[in-house]
Amino acid sequence: MNTWSHTTVLLNEAVEALVSDPQGCYVDATFGRGGHARRILRQLAPAGRLIAFDKDPEAVAEAARIADPRLEMRHRGFAALGELPPASVAGVLLDLGISSPQIDNPERGFSFRADGPLDMRMDPSRGQSAADWLAAASQQQIAEVIRDYGEERFAVAIAKAIVARRQTGHPLARTLEFAELVAGAVRTREPGQHPATRTFQAVRIFINAELEELRQALEASLHVLQPAGRLVVISFHSLEDRIAKQFIARHARAVVDRRAPFAEPAPTLLRALARVRPSDAEVAANPRARSAIMRVAERTEVAARVSPEPTSGRPKSASAPSGGSAARAATKRGGPVS
Ligand SMILES: C[S@@+](CC[C@H](N)C(=O)[O-])C[C@H]1O[C@@H](n2cnc3c(N)ncnc32)[C@H](O)[C@@H]1O
Repeated sequence: MNTWSHTTVLLNEAVEALVSDPQGCYVDATFGRGGHARRILRQLAPAGRLIAFDKDPEAVAEAARIADPRLEMRHRGFAALGELPPASVAGVLLDLGISSPQIDNPERGFSFRADGPLDMRMDPSRGQSAADWLAAASQQQIAEVIRDYGEERFAVAIAKAIVARRQTGHPLARTLEFAELVAGAVRTREPGQHPATRTFQAVRIFINAELEELRQALEASLHVLQPAGRLVVISFHSLEDRIAKQFIARHARAVVDRRAPFAEPAPTLLRALARVRPSDAEVAANPRARSAIMRVAERTEVAARVSPEPTSGRPKSASAPSGGSAARAATKRGGPVS
């Protein structure tokens, strides 16, 4: 049992947006420490159900402490959402990224402020650690990942420094030595931002296939949500939010067939309901909430067809480190939603 805790972001707002039928079956795709899950269970009637996913064994252990037969915990990546029966759930919640215990426990290797093994896996029982990947990847792969997933201007300089370091025969093994190496290669930084912030974010996203799994889970949600079921996505950086925003926009927009421009447009699968930011009071109480954006959409009655998901926006030359088969590096409700 560790002592690190997680303060749930947008707790009331997310659960209120998610739960419309207390008898329904819901999915918490990112159980974490169960903040949202416990609140969802409180909202549900005895016949309601909650299926939770998390990759992290510590999250699974936390779920085991909840003695509630309505909760079913799955130690899986949320891309496995598609294994649920079609149109079987009344709501899907994705509270993306990592939990505070993952960041705060140096042994998990996510922190550039505290020393620990350079790991960064949400599920340390499988896949490749950050250290192993950085020890083997090409300079070009590393630069692409840091550029594309960290939006880092100095990606090439950082990748060169990583490769030069491993040529000394002492590849990077610890978080602080990685952070120091990055700081040495980054020439300028936004005030208040640690020089390694963007690089750590990039490597973490890559190691955990975060964006690819998000795309898969969103696509799967179209199949598993019932009509009027809710999709609630909380993101913490622009790459995630862009994927959620574009996904909802794509399925909420009536598509006109160019070959038959006067025909009725194809019906939409989603209705965009809301874009919600944490209140000033929440950010003051929990600074980690400051970048959160929650998007809410409602499934329409229209049946989903199996559609290939666009694969743009991933670094081209990097290959999967953690068991994936594909090549990858890798407002208020009712108001206008942007
Ligand atoms: C921000 S935390 C969720 C916190 C949770 N809502 C709470 O209130 O305690 C994100 C969690 O999602 C998990 N996670 C991230 N990506 C995942 C994925 N692709 N599949 C399954 N779990 C994932 C992480 O391990 C982490 O525990």
